[in-house]
Amino acid sequence: MLKRYLLAPGPTQIPPEVLLKMAEPMVHHRNPMFEVVVDEVRENLRHLFGTANEVLIFSSSGTGAMEGAVTNMLSPGDKAIVVRSGKFGERWAEICSAYGVESVNIDLPWGDVLDPAAVERTLRENPDAKAVYMQATETSTGTMFPVKEVADIVRGCPGTLMVVDGITGVGVFALPMDDWGIDVLIGGSQKALMLPPGLAFAGVSDKAWEFSKASRMPRFYFNWAKERDNLKKNQTNFTPAISLIVGLRESLRLLREEGLENVYRRSDMLARATREGARAIGLEVFSRNPSPAVTAICAPEGIDGQAVYKTLWKKYGVTGAGGQDQLKGKIFRLATLGYADKYDVITAVAAIEFALRDLGYAFTMGAGVAAATDCLKDL
Ligand SMILES: Cc1ncc(COP(=O)(O)O)c(C=O)c1O
Repeated sequence: MLKRYLLAPGPTQIPPEVLLKMAEPMVHHRNPMFEVVVDEVRENLRHLFGTANEVLIFSSSGTGAMEGAVTNMLSPGDKAIVVRSGKFGERWAEICSAYGVESVNIDLPWGDVLDPAAVERTLRENPDAKAVYMQATETSTGTMFPVKEVADIVRGCPGTLMVVDGITGVGVFALPMDDWGIDVLIGGSQKALMLPPGLAFAGVSDKAWEFSKASRMPRFYFNWAKERDNLKKNQTNFTPAISLIVGLRESLRLLREEGLENVYRRSDMLARATREGARAIGLEVFSRNPSPAVTAICAPEGIDGQAVYKTLWKKYGVTGAGGQDQLKGKIFRLATLGYADKYDVITAVAAIEFALRDLGYAFTMGAGVAAATDCLKDL
């Protein structure tokens, strides 16, 4: 028997309570029964995003909301600042380019720390930039970025929006939109929201709604103003992913029941334990500012990171992730976001030890598990 453990940075594990809700008979989206669901979901999304404004729900993967954050906010020929330090930072620049927005890229070596002063300097040099696009966590490198500090800078620029891809941040650590001055905050269902892929979210500030009025970008499916107007009536613009929204009601209830502070503490401690487990067997954590969502671990000298990832999956049933693009073969990743607990981390670290032993790496068997367990004793 090979028992499977899903410890990837999305899709993630789904709690049985949520799975059961999604298996209930289908309801119609124009039926008052569904309106009750949407009403509750709206309230709990506002709580999670830390905003008094509406959090939009789209039936798409997270990238759909990223695209909408360009097409609903900017106009062709506009300029935007993009923080690029991994696969998803690159995506912001690609979306801008697809829609004729000039991106001024702040290029950081993958895994490096973002100095907010770099954003401040770039904004000073480009005072006509209409938006700053960045990640809360860059999933491809397991790096966390200083959202609050950058938002503080952008808040002082009335002509610039602060847009954050929080797809692996929302529900992992605090990103209180209204307090911090985040204008658009994006989330995705298959991460800390503990659902299958298929829903994207966007919290939108008053400042962003003002920008959207001036935006001249072509758009149809992702028309945010129409979506907001429908949502206020507990409706969606088109046929939504009904079962996922029914599941979302349950996952948001679970998050609220645990308490967001406890959820954030849990993710943080799990990631810490993963890092300590890896370090105890001589491995290096790739990021200079590691994320609580996902840990990128450098493959040891002479061992292919893809071989570690594949051995974990094929022989030990643990699905993490490999490295992408320039990091392929150099790292492997294990996530600690969403429906994850201490036994997931202990399992992951034990599986890493088994896999590395198979691949010929020399270390003291059990040292990683001991270090991880020690970190988790108070969780
Ligand atoms: C930080 C980040 N941004 C964007 C995306 C893209 O989301 P999706 O694959 O749901 O379109 C991901 C998905 O892994 C992500 O982790």
